[in-house]
Amino acid sequence: MRHILAGVVLSGTLAARAWAGQLTNIHGVNLGSWLLLEPWMLPQEWLNMGGQSCANDCSTCISTESSFAKAYPDTVDTTFAKHWDTWFTQDDVNTLKAAGINTVRVPLGYWIVEALVDRSHESYPRGGLEYLRRGLGWLQDAGIQAILDHHALPGVQTAGQMFTGNCTSDVQFYTPYNYHRALVWTAVMTALSHLDPTFGSVFAIEAINEPIMNATLTPGYGNFQKNFVQVIRAVELILGIFVPSSSLSVSVSPSVSNNFTAALSATSSESIFPVEVQTALLEAVPILLEIGIAFGLQTIFEASPFIQSRPPLVTNFMDINWQYDNPSNPADAAIGPQAYDNHLYYSFGGVAAADPKSYLISICNLTRIQADAAVGNSPLWFGEWGLSTQFTATDEFLYKWADAQKLAYSKGAGWIYWNFKTEISTLTNGSALARQWSYLEGLKLGFLTQDPAAYHDPDVCGPYINSTTNSASS
Ligand SMILES: *[C@@H]1O[C@H](CO)[C@@H](O)[C@H](O)[C@H]1NC(C)=O
Ligand SMILES: *[C@@H]1O[C@H](CO)[C@@H](O)[C@H](O)[C@H]1NC(C)=O
Ligand SMILES: *[C@@H]1O[C@H](CO)[C@@H](O)[C@H](O)[C@H]1NC(C)=O
Ligand SMILES: *[C@@H]1O[C@H](CO)[C@@H](O)[C@H](O)[C@H]1NC(C)=O
Ligand SMILES: *[C@@H]1O[C@H](CO)[C@@H](O)[C@H](O)[C@H]1NC(C)=O
Ligand SMILES: *[C@@H]1O[C@H](CO)[C@@H](O)[C@H](O)[C@H]1NC(C)=O
Repeated sequence: MRHILAGVVLSGTLAARAWAGQLTNIHGVNLGSWLLLEPWMLPQEWLNMGGQSCANDCSTCISTESSFAKAYPDTVDTTFAKHWDTWFTQDDVNTLKAAGINTVRVPLGYWIVEALVDRSHESYPRGGLEYLRRGLGWLQDAGIQAILDHHALPGVQTAGQMFTGNCTSDVQFYTPYNYHRALVWTAVMTALSHLDPTFGSVFAIEAINEPIMNATLTPGYGNFQKNFVQVIRAVELILGIFVPSSSLSVSVSPSVSNNFTAALSATSSESIFPVEVQTALLEAVPILLEIGIAFGLQTIFEASPFIQSRPPLVTNFMDINWQYDNPSNPADAAIGPQAYDNHLYYSFGGVAAADPKSYLISICNLTRIQADAAVGNSPLWFGEWGLSTQFTATDEFLYKWADAQKLAYSKGAGWIYWNFKTEISTLTNGSALARQWSYLEGLKLGFLTQDPAAYHDPDVCGPYINSTTNSASS
């Protein structure tokens, strides 16, 4: 349960840090709407910022970061800086720590790596990386591990969603150009995770949040999964990090052993990696040099021995069963530690009939963990879930609903609630929203327990499991 401190000081300039990552008993929350704002979670603040609320179709008004940036090119960065500064704070970290939260998932847009934005037709706020670094630093000090979640992909990975940063029906992620940009993002994030001292709490990087479920519409995704893992492992091999079960190896020439960016550049021509991986590594070099200048990391990136004994990152994918119609299996891409993510919301329909008993029968009999394990998708955590329902839920039901879900997800690697908080304003009744979507509000109301490993009733599933299966843990 405890973090394993595995960092070892190999040089005077690199601090020992980093843990191997806790892959069981994950009790987590998402830091949603922080560096990737979804207006439905903070409707009043969004209007105050200058955003709009569209009736049905989010593509018809200012309801995403990109439409906002397009509407307010001169003020977008300062408006968002204020949001980043206030939506997630040191106080929140203290509260989460006191509530026993051990993991956060941090949804990010590709534009956090600003050089990847094609400003000729894309617009996004600038300056988020500074706030990410600050927040990760707080989390590290609190001993809370972090997943960097690539939540909004270049070109948009799914249609009509605020969480992609650009609400559109024109989905362009599944193309060579945008896969490539996502790989460069991955190379940059991997290097930061291992070298930037503020990223010490990062133990996993998630490739794509919620790709299109119909695998026929995601051509090339399987190949991307393999390249994603190889980009991470290539950066790690350069850093001297031992990658288990890897047949890959990289030797760094002594002439570049004091300049990580130069070693990255030299390695990018190693033909053991596919061309796609090589070019992503190469294109990460100037971006890292720029970030080094902006954040005072030049000595670390360019003028220090960089060999590390940190454990490798956990590569993280939505599980194979997220998709249908002959999906590629992310397990086939694994080199070293890998984990899987499933999201389960009952409130959007399609899971169980819209009544309390059906919900409990469904969750108490959940078979997703076994189904995933049977095809190598283990460990599995539930990276998004909540208390939301399609019917008006009584308090009495929500106690059970929280317990039953936590029990189900804890049979896998654990759970990460969506979201750590939502706005409580009078607009659209924020109390009702927070009651079923905010972890902190759920704690206050008592549906979620102050000790996240506790239950109001550990036998909540008893009446809802087929008696022939004997016990709730079968
Ligand atoms: C949003 O996506 C559409 C469709 O791909 C694209 O034409 C547009 O440039 C994007 N907008 C921004 C601001 O990124
Ligand atoms: C998946 O997408 C393909 C291509 O558009 C389509 O032919 C197929 O009917 C879709 N599958 C389902 C179940 O919607
Ligand atoms: C480190 O290598 C990079 C990439 O080759 C180069 O641009 C930079 O000037 C080098 N820095 C130092 C301090 O030598
Ligand atoms: C808002 O939601 C809360 C919690 O569900 C409820 O108690 C309250 O009556 C609602 N207020 C209005 C004005 O609908
Ligand atoms: C258990 O499940 C089986 C098969 O679905 C069913 O025939 C049986 O009636 C169930 N028993 C109970 C007690 O629900
Ligand atoms: C789940 O529970 C219900 C109610 O006891 C039972 O009928 C059913 O067979 C169980 N199993 C599955 C896989 O639904």
